[in-house]
Amino acid sequence: MFTKPLFLIGILIATLQLCPQVASAQQAGSIGLRSDNIDQVLKAMTTAEKCSLLVGDAAIGAAVPNVAGYTHAIPRLGIPQTVLSDGPAGVRISPTRQGSSQTFYCTGFPVGTLTASSWDPTLVEEMTRAMGSEALEYGVDVLLAPGMNIHRNPLCGRNFEYFSEDPLLSGRIAAAYVRGVQSQGVGCSVKHFAANNQETNRLENDARVSERALREIYLKNFEIAVKEGHPWTVMSSYNKLNGEYTQQNHRLLTTILRNEWGFGGLVMTDWGCKDSTAKAVKAGNDLLMPGNQRERDRLLAAVESGALTQAHLDQVVHRVLEYIVKTPHYRKYPYSNRPDLQTHAQVARRAAAESIVLLRNEKETLPLNGGENVALYGISSVDFFGVGTGSGFVHTSHVANMQEALEATGFKLDQDLTNYYRHLYALQLDKERMEASAIDKRHRPEPEVTVKAIERQAQANDVAIIVLGRIAGEGADRVFHDDFQLTAPERELIQNVSMVYHKVGKRVVVVLNIVGVVETASWKELVDAIILPWAPGQEGAHAVADIIKGNVNPSGKLPMTFPVNYMDLPSATNFPYRWDMSGKKGERRGVDFTPYEEGIWVGYRHFITHDIAVSYPFGYGLSYTTFDYGQPKVKAGQDGFTATITVTNTGNVPGREVVQLYVSAPAGGLEKPHYELKAFAKTKTLMPGESDTLSMTVTAYDLASFNESTAAWETVAGTYALLFGASATDIRRTTHYKVKKAKAWPII
Ligand code: BGC
Repeated sequence: MFTKPLFLIGILIATLQLCPQVASAQQAGSIGLRSDNIDQVLKAMTTAEKCSLLVGDAAIGAAVPNVAGYTHAIPRLGIPQTVLSDGPAGVRISPTRQGSSQTFYCTGFPVGTLTASSWDPTLVEEMTRAMGSEALEYGVDVLLAPGMNIHRNPLCGRNFEYFSEDPLLSGRIAAAYVRGVQSQGVGCSVKHFAANNQETNRLENDARVSERALREIYLKNFEIAVKEGHPWTVMSSYNKLNGEYTQQNHRLLTTILRNEWGFGGLVMTDWGCKDSTAKAVKAGNDLLMPGNQRERDRLLAAVESGALTQAHLDQVVHRVLEYIVKTPHYRKYPYSNRPDLQTHAQVARRAAAESIVLLRNEKETLPLNGGENVALYGISSVDFFGVGTGSGFVHTSHVANMQEALEATGFKLDQDLTNYYRHLYALQLDKERMEASAIDKRHRPEPEVTVKAIERQAQANDVAIIVLGRIAGEGADRVFHDDFQLTAPERELIQNVSMVYHKVGKRVVVVLNIVGVVETASWKELVDAIILPWAPGQEGAHAVADIIKGNVNPSGKLPMTFPVNYMDLPSATNFPYRWDMSGKKGERRGVDFTPYEEGIWVGYRHFITHDIAVSYPFGYGLSYTTFDYGQPKVKAGQDGFTATITVTNTGNVPGREVVQLYVSAPAGGLEKPHYELKAFAKTKTLMPGESDTLSMTVTAYDLASFNESTAAWETVAGTYALLFGASATDIRRTTHYKVKKAKAWPII
C-alpha cells in the first residue's frame, strides 16, 4: 500500500504522463490555461500562436482518428487540442483504426427530418443526451450538429439532415437537440448559418433573399436555437448571401448573431476558407476550419500590415480560449472509447417509433395483429437506409432492414420473395464491387416481379408490404425524375401489387424509407396504408415493425408539406432541378445565384394562404386512436398569452397527440400568411378516455413580422385568431386574443 506522500507523487507522475500539455506548460515554467486566467494566457501568446489557434486542421493529426477536424494545441500554455466530429444523426468517426482490433462504431439515430416529425422536444433531448454521451466517450469535443437549414424545396440533397419548412418547429427541435448533447459536457455547432438551402454549386451559390424572408424564415430558426439552446458554436455556411460569403458577413455573424441575439459562443467556418481570411475573422468568424498554413500566413500578414488589429485578434482568440476551457479535452476527461451502444440502440429505436408518421390508413388496415403471412416487396426491404450519405453518414455496426425487423416482430415472411430480393441485392453489391463504382445512390434499381408471381404470392399471404427507398446527401441535390417522382418500376410494382391483392380482398401497405419528400398524390389511393419513417436510424426498421404491429401507436406529424405537384411549390422555378451549367459563369440562375422570389411564402404559408390543394399538409399524421379537443382557454400575461387546451383520447388504444397553435393576425399590419405556427405541444400517452391539458405560451415578439421599411419587428394591435389544429388544414378549435397596443422592436 502507498504511504500518503508516495501516493501523491504517484498521482503527479501519472498526471504529467497523461497530460503532455500540462507537463510542458509546467516544465517551461509558463502558465497553464484556466477559465480564470484567459487574459493572462492571451498576453503570453505570440502572434504566431494566436494565428495557429484560429486556424484548425483536417483529420490528420487529430487525437481521435478520422474526425472532421481539430484545433491546434499549444502545449507550452496548457492549451489542448480539441476534436470536432460530424453530426447530425450520430457521431461520425471511422469504425476501425490501424493497429487496433477494437471497433469504434457509433449509433445511427433518426435523421433530422424524422426527429422533427416527433414534434417532441423532450424526446429529442433524451435522444441527443445519448448522442452527446457517445461523443464524450469517443473523445469528441464538438458535434458538428444539428443541421437546421429550412426545407425551402424538397429537392435539397441535405434536407434529411435538416428539420422543417417552418422556423418555429425547426428552432425548437434544434434547441432541444443542443440541450441534450451539451448536457453531456460536449458542444454543438448549429449549421449552416445561413440560407444554405441547396447543394448545387454549394460553395459559391449566392442566395438572394429579401430582408423580411431572411428574418422571418431563414434566420428565425437559428435565433430560436441560439436563444433557447445556447449552442457552444455556430457554423457559418459555404454560400453567399446577397452577394457576400456568409463567412465574411459581419452583419450576419456579429450584428445579428452576437449583438441582436446575444450569442456568446464561437463561430467556425464550414469546411473550407474563402479568400481573405482576415475578412472572415473581422466578420466574426473565430475559427477557420479546417484551414492550413496558407490561412495562418494570411492572418499573420494581416496583423503585420494592420489590416487586422491586435485588439481584434485578441478578442477572437479570447473566444476560442473560452471555448477550449469548456471542452472534455481541456478537462482531460478520460474517455473510454466504449459508449453504451446497446442502450443507445434502444434510445434510437424509441425515438424513431415515437416520430414515424402514418400518412394513410384506410379501413383500419393497420395495425396488423402480428400473426399474418406477409409478402414483403421492394429492394429497399433488404437495403434499408438508416441515415443519409456525406458528412451526415454514421458508421454503425449494422442497420436493421425490414426483413429482419418484421421477422423479429413475429410476422411470417414469404420466403421465396425474401430470398429473391436478398439474392438480387447481393448481385447488385457484387456488380458495384467489380465496377468499383457505387450505383446511382438515389435509389437501388427496383427488380421486376411479374404479375403471375404476385398472383401466387397474393394467394399464399395475408398482406403485402412494399418498401420504397431514396438516398441523398451532401454535395448533390435530388432530381425531379426518378427521385421526387417514383421510378417506372416502382409505379409498376405499386400498381400490380395493389391490383392483384385487392382482387382477392387483401391489403397493401407502403413504407417510405426516403430522405426527402416524394410525389404521392398520383398513387396514394391505390394502396391501403402508407407509413413514413424517413431514414430512421440503425434501429428504424424495428420501429416501423413496432408501428405495423401496433406495439407503438404512431404520433409523428409532418414537418413539411407534401405538394400535389412539384410545380405547386413556390420555390419550384427558382430551385436548380433543371439547372444548366452551360451559361456564362456568374450568371447561371439556380447555380451561381438563386433568387428566393417566393419571399416568406415557404411551405404551408403559401399553400394555406393561396388556397392550393396539397397531397398531405404540414403538421399531418394519423393515429390508431382519435382525440377530442376541448374548448381552449387564453390567459393574457405581462407579455403575450398562455393558451391551454384539454385533449381527450376518444378511441380504444393508448396514443399521443400533437396540438399545433396557429395564429392569424388582424388586418392593419404587413401582408401575412393566413396563419402561422406559433406554438405546439404533445400530450403524454393517453389511455382510452384519458385527458391531458396542454399549455402553450406565445409572447408579443413571437407575433411580430419584420417590416423592411421601418427595419423593425412589429406586432400590430387588434384581435388575433388562435387556431388549434391537428394539422395546418385540420383546425379543431378557435379562440381569440387581443393585443391592446402595437409594439415594435427595431433592429440594431
Ligand atoms: C459540411 C458540414 C460538415 C463539414 C465537416 C462540410 O462539407 O457542409 O456539414 O460538418 O463538412 O465534415
